Amino acid sequence: MAQGTSVQMQTPRHLPVLWKEVMDGLQVKADGCYLDGTYGRGGHAAGILEQLSADGRLLVMDKDPEAIAHAFERFASDARVSVFHGSFTQMAWWSETLQGLDGILLDLGVSSPQLDVAERGFSFRLDGPLDMRMDTSRGESAGVWLNKASEHEIADVLWTFGEEKLSRKIARVLVAKRKDAPFTHTGALAECIAGIVGRGDGKTHPATRSFQAIRIFINQELSDLEIGLQAAHDVLKPGGRLAVISFHSLEDRIVKQFIARHAKAPAGNRRRPDVPDFTASLKDIVGAVKAGPEELRENPRARSAVLRIAEKITPLVIGSVA
Ligand SMILES: C[S@@+](CC[C@H](N)C(=O)[O-])C[C@H]1O[C@@H](n2cnc3c(N)ncnc32)[C@H](O)[C@@H]1O
Repeated sequence: MAQGTSVQMQTPRHLPVLWKEVMDGLQVKADGCYLDGTYGRGGHAAGILEQLSADGRLLVMDKDPEAIAHAFERFASDARVSVFHGSFTQMAWWSETLQGLDGILLDLGVSSPQLDVAERGFSFRLDGPLDMRMDTSRGESAGVWLNKASEHEIADVLWTFGEEKLSRKIARVLVAKRKDAPFTHTGALAECIAGIVGRGDGKTHPATRSFQAIRIFINQELSDLEIGLQAAHDVLKPGGRLAVISFHSLEDRIVKQFIARHAKAPAGNRRRPDVPDFTASLKDIVGAVKAGPEELRENPRARSAVLRIAEKITPLVIGSVA
C-alpha cells in the first residue's frame, strides 16, 4: 500500500481477506475508538484490538446472532470491547459511538461459517433449508419469499442484484415448478436453475448469480450499505478512517461513488460550467486495493475483494461561484 508505515504485529494463521491492507489503512491509534461493523469471526477485529492500549476501545457489530455469540465468548472478559447485535446501519444510535470514532471497518458479504454450514441455506453446493438470512432472529427466509413472490418480482431481483441475463426465464420456470412442490432446500433450487442456465464453462456454478441476487435481496445488502456509509461518515471524527471491503461490482460502485461524492467537487459541464461551492468531507486515500498474488494463492475468495479507504477531514470548501 502506498501510504503510512506498515503494521508490525502478529498475523493470524487463517487470514481474513486483505487483513494486512486493512490494518495498514486504518492506522490504528492505541487510545482510539474503533468499530468493526461486520464482526464475522473477528479476524480483523482481533488485529485492531491487538494494537489498542488499555485506553483504546473496540466496538463490534454483526447482524448474525452466531457471529455475535462468538464475539461475546471471545471478548467478554476484555473491558475494552463492546458487542452489539444488529445492522451497522444502526451504528449512529449506539450510545458507544456518541463521542465519535477513529476508524470503522465494513467487510461486506457473507462469512465463511455462513457459507460453509448447510443449515444456513446460503450455499448452492451444500443442500440445506432455503434460508439465507444473516439475521436469523427476524425477517423472511429466502424460501418463504421465493414461494410467494410474483414472477415479475423474482425476475426483477435476479436481474437487479445478480445481473442474471436469463432472469425472466428462470422466474417463469420457478413459479411454474413451485405449484407442484414449494422450494424448501438449496439443492433443489440450484438444480432447477442449473437446468435452465446450463452447465456453462464448469468454472462457475450456474446458480451463482441467482443465489447472490436472492441473498442480497433477502438481507437488503445494498440499501444497508448506502445507509451504513452515511452513518459511518457521520460518526467518524476528523482524521478518522473508513475501510470498506466489497465482493462484487454492485457494492464497490456504491462505495466508490460515495467516497467520490464527499471528496471531489462535481465537474462542470457545457450546460452548467459554474459548479456551486463544494464542501469536501472525505479524502480518498488509495483508490481500489486488491489482494496480491500470495493472498490469492492461499485464499481464492480474495479474488473478487476490493478495499477502499477514506479519511474524514475537517469540512473544506472547494471552489466558489463568482
Ligand atoms: C465477510 S464477513 C466478515 C469477516 C470478518 N471481517 C472476519 O475477519 O472474520 C461479513 C459479516 O458481516 C455481517 N454483515 C453483513 N451485512 C451486515 C450489516 N448490514 N450489519 C451487520 N453485519 C453485517 C455478516 O453477517 C457476516 O458475519
